[in-house]
Amino acid sequence: MSDQTTGQAPDGESNVPHPTDEAGIQAAVEAALAAIEAAGDLNELKEARLAHTGEKSALSLANRQIGKLDKSEKAVAGKLVGSARGRVNKALAARTTVLEEAEAARILIEETVDVTAAARRRSVGARHPLSVLQDRVADIFVGMGWEIAEGPEVESEWFNFDALNFKPDHPAREMQDTFFIEPADAHLVLRTHTSPVQVRSMLEREVPVYVLCPGRTFRTDELDATHTPVFHQFEGLAVDKGLTMADLRGTLEHFARQMFGEEAQIRLRPAYFPFTEPSAELDIWHPGAKGGPRWIEWGGCGMVNPNVLRAAGIDPEEYSGFAFGMGIERTLMFRNDVPDMHDMIEGDVRFSQHFGMEI
Ligand code: DAH
Repeated sequence: MSDQTTGQAPDGESNVPHPTDEAGIQAAVEAALAAIEAAGDLNELKEARLAHTGEKSALSLANRQIGKLDKSEKAVAGKLVGSARGRVNKALAARTTVLEEAEAARILIEETVDVTAAARRRSVGARHPLSVLQDRVADIFVGMGWEIAEGPEVESEWFNFDALNFKPDHPAREMQDTFFIEPADAHLVLRTHTSPVQVRSMLEREVPVYVLCPGRTFRTDELDATHTPVFHQFEGLAVDKGLTMADLRGTLEHFARQMFGEEAQIRLRPAYFPFTEPSAELDIWHPGAKGGPRWIEWGGCGMVNPNVLRAAGIDPEEYSGFAFGMGIERTLMFRNDVPDMHDMIEGDVRFSQHFGMEI
């Protein structure tokens, strides 16, 4: 686009035709039409508009002179310049439409979305099956009206052992391969089980107490297919007037059926734990076990030892309690057929995705 093609600069008094100069006005119109036609896009058209219809354009300046003319010339000049400007404006409008359409078509092509192209997928990940299982256990007990309780992972030796009736020289203290925290005289450990939350719950709450305490626990085991130094347990505790072993049994049976189906059964075998008396090992008849239904060791349980109630300020003459504790990893292993503990801790999302959001 250029006015130069017609040899006519739009500004400069010398190029301004007299408003009655038909040839001069015609030349200005032709220069304008040529520039408009040459404009290749809307920006160039804007420049052409400014040059040929702007205040300093030949036609505008000619138009301005009309006022100074004699009355007789005014009518002729008005008509001449008016129609000249009309033609230029019309050409501008037409060219604007053409260029706008071209612009729209260009954008359509450039910004085309290929709806057949393969989508870029972003994986949303998955909750870890241990978390899902832990929530499921919690839901079952909340459904029975129990509360969820938590305690610290760095625990005082007193809560982890003494209050649970482990005597200072009790071999069970050694049996639980404990991570002790330095300095030794701080008497802090990484809790070896969730049982200390029993004592904390009794101290923090009014009786009756019905709590489920899920959480992380630690022992100095080497990692192998069935052990890991960091694992999870859940602990149950009920303290009320008149609770007996029958209440423990009924609760565990209901829980087992919620977890393993209506055909599940439980069995208690005599055992020893310092914090329960009597104590029992809990076995579950797992109807869906891999290789056929069978009894599987699941956890420990018993009636809360009166010494533990006393340590928590509860009168064992008035109240009794039952408790139980199981491992979440172990439960996941035989419930969902995970033969190797490594899979649970390695953090490969494919392991979690395999379980979906409901297990
Ligand atoms: N704390 C025990 C452990 O870690 C499990 C346990 C046994 C918990 C008996 C209990 C119980 O509440 O009554 O091996």
